[in-house]
Amino acid sequence: MAGLMAGYGHYTHAVVRGIPASLAKEALRSSQTEVDLAKAVKEHEAYVEVLRTRLGLEVVELPADESLPDCVFVEDAAVVCGDTALITRPGAESRRGETEAMKGALKDLNLNIVEMTDENATLDGGDVLFTGREFFVGLSKRTNQRGAEILADAFKDYAVSTVPVLDGLHLKSFCSMGGPGLIVIGSSEPAQKALKVFEKLKDHMLIPVSNLEKVKVDGALTCCSVLINKKANI
Ligand code: GLY
Repeated sequence: MAGLMAGYGHYTHAVVRGIPASLAKEALRSSQTEVDLAKAVKEHEAYVEVLRTRLGLEVVELPADESLPDCVFVEDAAVVCGDTALITRPGAESRRGETEAMKGALKDLNLNIVEMTDENATLDGGDVLFTGREFFVGLSKRTNQRGAEILADAFKDYAVSTVPVLDGLHLKSFCSMGGPGLIVIGSSEPAQKALKVFEKLKDHMLIPVSNLEKVKVDGALTCCSVLINKKANI
């Protein structure tokens, strides 16, 4: 198992995508909140800049697609672990077209592509938490048991457990891993309480990144990038 953990939390590349103007009115959301598009674009640019300059990742930026209002939330279109990329079948029909551009980008990065073609399966990457040792898959409005089974088949080296997601959009709407030396945390009351604990860990670095607009359409920070470690298997 130690070999499987090698390189966990270390990434070389990130795939992100631009924000289409259609996000403001047409992106899926659980509450009817108005989005300030210009502010969302600015916040997203700052986020991508952190990936590029603070984390030193090579960033692949896919262009926004106006016909895909949620396309900035690239995490849902693919799950990458080692040199395998599972192209998902997103739970919301309006989001299925997002996988094409993601597949192209991950092919260009020479990853082994596995596609979820079973019409009974749905899976959003936002429901997939990889700990370095195992996967947890949230069974939510977007992800079903068949989707979790196909993920288990794609990543046979790891145990896969399912977790019911009874509230909120995705499993990672309320929990997320931080890489070594990096804690990623939201601004909600429970998250801020947790932050008080994390702040005591002096050897961790906290980088504040605003996400006030995208959260209005249920988008968290992890939703906006697919992280890849091209050195994992060298
Ligand atoms: N707005 C993100 C989603 O609902 O999938």
